[in-house]
Amino acid sequence: MTNRSPLSRSYLAGFLLPLLLAAAPMAGQELPILSRCSGSGVERAVDSLLSLMTVDEKIGQMVQYSAERDTLRVGRLTVAQQELIREGAVGSILNLVGASVVHEAQRIAVEESRLGIPIIFGLDVIHGFRTIFPIPLASASTFDPDLVEKAERAAAREATAAGIHWTFAPMVDIARDPRWGRIAEGAGEDTYLGSAMAAARVRGFQDRDLSRPDALLACPKHFAAYGGAEGGRDYNTVDISERTLREVYLPPFHAAIDAGAGSIMCSFNEIAGVPSSSNKRLLTTILRGEWGFPGFVVSDWNSIGELLNHGIAAARSEAGAVALAAGVDMDMEANVYHQELREAVKRGEVTTDQLDRAVRRILRMKFALGLFADPYRGCDPANESAAVLAPEHRALARDVARRSIVLLKNEKGVLPLRRDAGTVAVVGPLADDAVDLLGPWSAEGRAEDVVTALRGLRSAATGEVNVEYARGCGIRDSSTSGFGEALALARRSDVVVAVVGESRSMSGEAASRSSLDLPGRQEELVEALVGTGKPVVVVLMNGRPLTIPWIADRAGAVVEAWFLGSEAGSALADVLFGEYNPSGRLPVTFPRSVGQIPIYYNHKNTGRPPSESDRWTSKYIDLPSTPLYPFGFGLSYTTFAHSGLALDRPVMHRNDTLTVLATVKNTGRRRGMETVQLYLHNSGANVTRPVQQLRGFRKVELNPGETGIVEFRLTEEELKFYDLDMHWTVKAGAFQVMVGPNCAETQSATFEYRP
Ligand code: GLC
Repeated sequence: MTNRSPLSRSYLAGFLLPLLLAAAPMAGQELPILSRCSGSGVERAVDSLLSLMTVDEKIGQMVQYSAERDTLRVGRLTVAQQELIREGAVGSILNLVGASVVHEAQRIAVEESRLGIPIIFGLDVIHGFRTIFPIPLASASTFDPDLVEKAERAAAREATAAGIHWTFAPMVDIARDPRWGRIAEGAGEDTYLGSAMAAARVRGFQDRDLSRPDALLACPKHFAAYGGAEGGRDYNTVDISERTLREVYLPPFHAAIDAGAGSIMCSFNEIAGVPSSSNKRLLTTILRGEWGFPGFVVSDWNSIGELLNHGIAAARSEAGAVALAAGVDMDMEANVYHQELREAVKRGEVTTDQLDRAVRRILRMKFALGLFADPYRGCDPANESAAVLAPEHRALARDVARRSIVLLKNEKGVLPLRRDAGTVAVVGPLADDAVDLLGPWSAEGRAEDVVTALRGLRSAATGEVNVEYARGCGIRDSSTSGFGEALALARRSDVVVAVVGESRSMSGEAASRSSLDLPGRQEELVEALVGTGKPVVVVLMNGRPLTIPWIADRAGAVVEAWFLGSEAGSALADVLFGEYNPSGRLPVTFPRSVGQIPIYYNHKNTGRPPSESDRWTSKYIDLPSTPLYPFGFGLSYTTFAHSGLALDRPVMHRNDTLTVLATVKNTGRRRGMETVQLYLHNSGANVTRPVQQLRGFRKVELNPGETGIVEFRLTEEELKFYDLDMHWTVKAGAFQVMVGPNCAETQSATFEYRP
């Protein structure tokens, strides 16, 4: 152990802490994170700390290491990592979880390093910490940002109690290609919905004051356009226009920053020849120059090191210099900053100003998190055991899960299932599968906590209903040896619930699929079950749209249940037995075939829009041009009629607010929730515009026979686009307003915009 000067605790307490505390706002003063980071006291405190730091200690703040995760999922620090902490060579650690181990690591940093600067501990809390919520693509199906915010708040409470300060979330990448496994982690294909969800998740994680012990620093990722990978192949090239970048992929990040996100993660991919980790225009000109982002940028895992593969850097030292110059403040696991920057400074390839700029941003966030005031931030095993799996978190997870379920088909009232009689055959590889329902990126979630579909249905079934189970087949394997038992069960039952889909490892990172069909022999199993003549309810558990045209045509009912997390089975039973009337709506288009991809609702019209009656138009000759299920689609156990679209003016001028009213009536026999969506088309632009763009959604719950009026208010902000000269503007011209239950069923009206 090298000798430590007496600088750490006594000095910090005697000199630095009073300075920092003087900078802290008075109790109860609710300052948004941005002003907290730039208050004069903080700057003085950061300046004084910087003045004490050696070059090595500055570089140390810019380095993030991962604890080793063993099969027991317990993160451990190596002896070498502990020594690096003592040397002040570690600014952050990810994947170390658990109050006691985190507390000990922080103690080493605060008590045994020269300056005692606290470490910031990070983890991928993507859809829950120990209580696992539905994957983000599922919770986006709620079209309910407030609900999603509550879920992230609960996740933050659990994660911070376990010593985590920082989550590498929300993932806000727009994804138009469902072959890309990471579509599971985001809010789907639409920028407007994605922006609303991004902001809600940041608010949920960070709450209103980052220095609160249960506030979790957010980190929108992956900046930027990672979801635009060619072929839906993870990590692949992204080559898009500036207009597409700015209109489709950047807005959710901007929304997250506007919501106060204090960090951001750059992406692995290049954009039109420039990898994000070396993209100064992205990380500095846009992020800081245009958006005023005050926080810090962390690379993705070894993305700085991967600049050599990209061919942008010939050596690791060059990779470090170009990443730092571009605006990457912290190096996740590439070890480039730690190994290369000191010599680069000596050679003059990197300046101390560049180091100071990065370190200042990191220290500001550590201050904003209150880490200097209390490095342990309530990190206490007792807090942790009280917070994780709290009953209110499980109840919330169940509510989010059932609202995430999308009813795609329900013929002849197959659903809801009868409660008063009969035998329900529950079949399929995901019916009693706990681990896959956690979905990808399940943090500290455990299979033992999960209510499976079978367990949920059995718990919900009253005495008269008998729920029996047969697996039928695996998720991926080719065996049909279980078909016989499953079909025999189906034949002696009244209704079949076939729970099929993907394993969780088939979505998430490094999980792109070239086919979107049900894996293994599952489709054949469903065909055989339908062949028994019994009504079949197909429940999909998956992380992406699947191509299921035969099932869509022949099953009695189809339910999209995604990966719903710890309370999956309870939520599914609530919906299948009618305790909850399904209200989810698709945040992503379901193609008929993988050959249709890319297929998304907000596409351009082209010069030859598809026409089934005209060969010479833009379409495939072997498939209809429409998707299997469109964006925004979802059914209910009741029905709704949409009418009465009305605009309060035919002409809208600058600074006007256009009010749009629409009428919805519950024409069925059950109370239900409708999600009314508003789309715009701009036909007065000097560049081509999408045929539709979501610009509003309203959820309305109505009793049978009840009529509701929904109101949207549009300002010119909702009308703007990047014109021929890339100015963010709106031009005089005609606009079409479309309102309805999904993008394909709308009533429309027009208005004119005159500046
Ligand atoms: C990964 C992912 C990123 C994640 C990080 C830390 O490779 O791309 O989303 O946050 O590593 O686990």
